[in-house]
Amino acid sequence: MIERFLTIRKRTEGICVPLEIEDYSVQPNSDVSPPKWHLAHTTWFFEQFVLKAFVSEYSEFDVDYSYLFNSYYSNVGEHVLRADRGLMTRPTIADVVNYRNYVDEQMALFLSGNVAKGQLEKVELGINHEEQHQELLAYDMKYILGHQPTFPKYGDGFQLKKEREFGFVSVDEGVYEIGYNGPNFHFDNEENSHKVYLNAYEMSKSLVTNGNWLAFIAAGGYEDVNLWHSEGWSWVQGLEIKAPMYWYLDRGEWKYYDMTGFNLVDKDLPVMHINLYEAHAYAEWKGMRLPTEAEWEVVADQIQWGQLWEWTNSAYLPYPGFKSEAGALGEYNGKFMVNQKTLRGGSIATAIGHSRKTYRNFFHADFRLQFCGLRLVK
Ligand SMILES: [Fe+2]
Repeated sequence: MIERFLTIRKRTEGICVPLEIEDYSVQPNSDVSPPKWHLAHTTWFFEQFVLKAFVSEYSEFDVDYSYLFNSYYSNVGEHVLRADRGLMTRPTIADVVNYRNYVDEQMALFLSGNVAKGQLEKVELGINHEEQHQELLAYDMKYILGHQPTFPKYGDGFQLKKEREFGFVSVDEGVYEIGYNGPNFHFDNEENSHKVYLNAYEMSKSLVTNGNWLAFIAAGGYEDVNLWHSEGWSWVQGLEIKAPMYWYLDRGEWKYYDMTGFNLVDKDLPVMHINLYEAHAYAEWKGMRLPTEAEWEVVADQIQWGQLWEWTNSAYLPYPGFKSEAGALGEYNGKFMVNQKTLRGGSIATAIGHSRKTYRNFFHADFRLQFCGLRLVK
C-alpha cells in the first residue's frame, strides 16, 4: 500500500511537470481550479481523513490549510469559496510542495505500522480521490492553456486515437443487472446492483467523430431550434455557440487547441468537449438518441471505451438501496445527486485501472470542459 500510495502521489506531480510557475495559481473561472489547489487539496484529503483521524500524535503541517484546501466537506468545517481559489497566491507552490512531502512522509510512517482494514479503506478512498483530481488537473490545465491567445503547448500527452470498430451492437429486450457487486474498491454511488428492464436497442461501436461534427455544423445544426432542448437553445443563443469548446474558425478552417498547440481539426478522431445539449441535438439530427446508463453498462464489454467519457441521458440519481456513509465522507457523492446527468466509460486523462463499467461520472448538462464525447443508440 505504501508503494501504491507513493506511486499515485508521484503521478500527480508528474502531470504538472510541463507547467510553468505562473500556470499554478490562476483560476480562469469558478469551474476551473488552480493546479496548485489540486496539489494541496488532494494532500489535505489524506491529512484530514487518515492522519488526523487515525494518528493520535499527528501534528498538522499548517493549521490554516484545513480551511484553505477543504473543497466542500461541511462536516469538517468552513472552506474558502470555490470561486476564490485563484486569489490564493499564498501559500506558494514551494509551500505546497513541502506540504505534500510532509504528508507523504507521515503517510508512509502510518502505513508501515499496524493498519486496520477500515483505515486502509480510507487510504484507498484517498488514492481514488487523488486519481479523480489527476483527471480534473488535466481538464483545468487544458482550460488554462487553451484560453490564452498564444495556445501554449502542454505536451504530447492526453491525445485521442482513431476508433477502430464501427457498426452497432444489438441487444435483446429483457431484464439485466447493473451496478457494482463485488469485493474491490468502488464508489458508494455504484451500489446497490439491481435489475433493470430494457427494450431491444442497438448501440454504436464507435464514438461520434470530428468529421461527423463538421457535417453537423455545415448542415446548420447550431441554427436549427428543432434539434435543441429549450435550455440548450437558450445556451446556444445566449453565448452564440457555433462549435465545441476549444474550436475556432480560422480563415475558413476549423481549428482547435488539443494541448499540443493550435491545430486543424482532425476529422478521424472522436469529437470532444461537447455538452449534453449539443450531444442531444446531434443525436436528434441523426434520428437517433443518447443511451441510458443501463443501456451503456449492458454493452460495455462489447464496445471499446476509455477514450472519452460518454454522455448518457440518465439523471444522476441514487440506485435502489443507496446509502451515504455517516459523517463527512457521506458528502463525497450523495449530495450531488440532483440536476446532473451521468457519463460512462473513462477518458485519456483517467488513471489506469481507475474506472470500470459500473463507474458513474456526473456533470451538469451545460458542462463541456471535461474530456467527454458521445455514442449513439437506435
Ligand atoms: Fe476533492
